[in-house]
Amino acid sequence: MALNIEKIKPAIGAVIHDIDLNTINHADLNEVHHALIENEVIFFRKQSLTPEKQAELARSFGSLHIHPIFPNVKNVPEILILDSLKQDLRDNELWHTDVTFSKTPPLGCVLQAKKVPSQGGDTFWSSGTEAFATLPKHIKEKIWGLTAVHDIRQSFPLERYASNIDEQQKLLQVFKKNPPVTHPVVRTHPITGKPILFVSEGFTTKINELSETESSELLQFLFKHSVQESLHIRWQWEVGDVAIWDNRCTQHKALFDYGDAHRIMHRATINGDTPFFTSAA
Ligand code: SIN
Repeated sequence: MALNIEKIKPAIGAVIHDIDLNTINHADLNEVHHALIENEVIFFRKQSLTPEKQAELARSFGSLHIHPIFPNVKNVPEILILDSLKQDLRDNELWHTDVTFSKTPPLGCVLQAKKVPSQGGDTFWSSGTEAFATLPKHIKEKIWGLTAVHDIRQSFPLERYASNIDEQQKLLQVFKKNPPVTHPVVRTHPITGKPILFVSEGFTTKINELSETESSELLQFLFKHSVQESLHIRWQWEVGDVAIWDNRCTQHKALFDYGDAHRIMHRATINGDTPFFTSAA
């Protein structure tokens, strides 16, 4: 059976209707995998995945990652918890591609809304494929083949993620185990072969081949360009919604505009491979 897919924008985003992810069959799951590649982020309303089922769904895309900082569900460590009453989630409001501080950033994520504020807390996703495609020609030529540094400390500042000496020591250990890494500024999608602009304000700190000033000016331009309105979509959450995104070609941010209201999300993160760049793209 063909899936009932409603596109949100031509370049990014689709809602898949009439599917229960708890009981999805093999053929439909295959279609979902295709829909992800085609739409970069896909959404399902009214789902009820347990952490185990969410991990199982995510595992259909690949092995799962365990986050070095965020807490996880007891007995299901592959599901991390974003809980607005227990964590300071302000930094999730920075546009970012998940875990690019790793040498092998995730392939994608499966996120489920467990508790949502009555207003606010929307999440935005932006297409890195479209971001590259819409750059002026001279910028494409300039960034083709450049590399950039991605640093965990940019989105996990010590002052917000450690409230006592013990936590500080732990976080410093995490920083030590995750030193800054280098990725291509333009990466090639391993399945579509398309070029993707692969920098985000959440983790990218410097372009290696440029001076500090040039790097900073270019990054500011690229950050702004890549998240402009025409390239992004906005999702208003309901409890039970599931989003799956291709982390290789998107970036996202979650608004922190709901004051003391309670928002809880569960995320499974799918391991990815080493980003590469091929000029044949
Ligand atoms: C994330 O940044 O991975 C989570 C996004 C959200 O909380 O909506």
